[in-house]
Amino acid sequence: MPLNDHTGTYTVTARVLHWLTALFVLSAIPMGIAMGRLGPGPAADFLFDLHRSLGAVLIPIVLFRIYWRLTHKPPPLPFDIPRSQQLAAEAVHHMLYACILAQPVIGWIATSAYRAPIKVFWLFQLPPIWKEDRAFSEMLFALHMYIGWAMCLLLAAHIGGALFHHFIRKDRVLMRMIEGA
Ligand code: HEM
Ligand code: HEM
Repeated sequence: MPLNDHTGTYTVTARVLHWLTALFVLSAIPMGIAMGRLGPGPAADFLFDLHRSLGAVLIPIVLFRIYWRLTHKPPPLPFDIPRSQQLAAEAVHHMLYACILAQPVIGWIATSAYRAPIKVFWLFQLPPIWKEDRAFSEMLFALHMYIGWAMCLLLAAHIGGALFHHFIRKDRVLMRMIEGA
């Protein structure tokens, strides 16, 4: 199994996957919050389609990212960071992985149970993966909303941590995710 921990950095693939995921997720969250509050109309319809498209495309990207992560060990954090902080960072990473996998799948199942179409970038439609069940759909959308807000909290800690490393600790933790070693 190829491991890259001896190089002390992330592979180009891991970095591209990280920033691609970040772009999709950081667009999908505000879109999800805005579209439900806009009221019916063409602007809301457009955001719904775009939100579902981003989420749908994210599923194969996340599956590949998880495969890559399992076969390529990430570099360890600088050794002088307290063990408790290292564990906290790892816990946030694991919870983020769980969210980026669960959230789009829950969105897909909930939208299927509602029987709304999922047009992926107006090119093709995803098939429904659940029988029509409005009550179940509503329950799943409530869960989708809670996970969405939990992701906001996790990301505030995650991005805050990255900025703390760069501007206060002045180490290479942010840069190794941007440009590698
Ligand atoms: C401006 C936005 C972001 C910044 C500055 C940022 C920064 C970073 C940095 C510096 C690392 C490497 C940490 C280390 O070396 O230990 C990292 C890892 C990670 N980031 Fe982000 N990130 C951002 C957005 C996101 C988003 C939106 C997600 C997912 C929802 C995400 C998920 C992850 C995960 C899961 C890891 C762990 C990678 C691994 O080692 O397996 N990040 N991020
Ligand atoms: C990682 C991917 C995704 C993220 C981060 C995300 C996040 C969100 C957020 C934050 C909301 C707003 C909740 C609220 O405060 O009302 C939302 C709503 C929604 N999302 Fe997603 N979502 C994702 C993927 C998907 C997918 C793949 C679908 C469908 C195929 C979907 C369908 C919806 C729908 C229909 C709503 C509106 C729910 C309602 O108004 O009750 N989402 N999403």
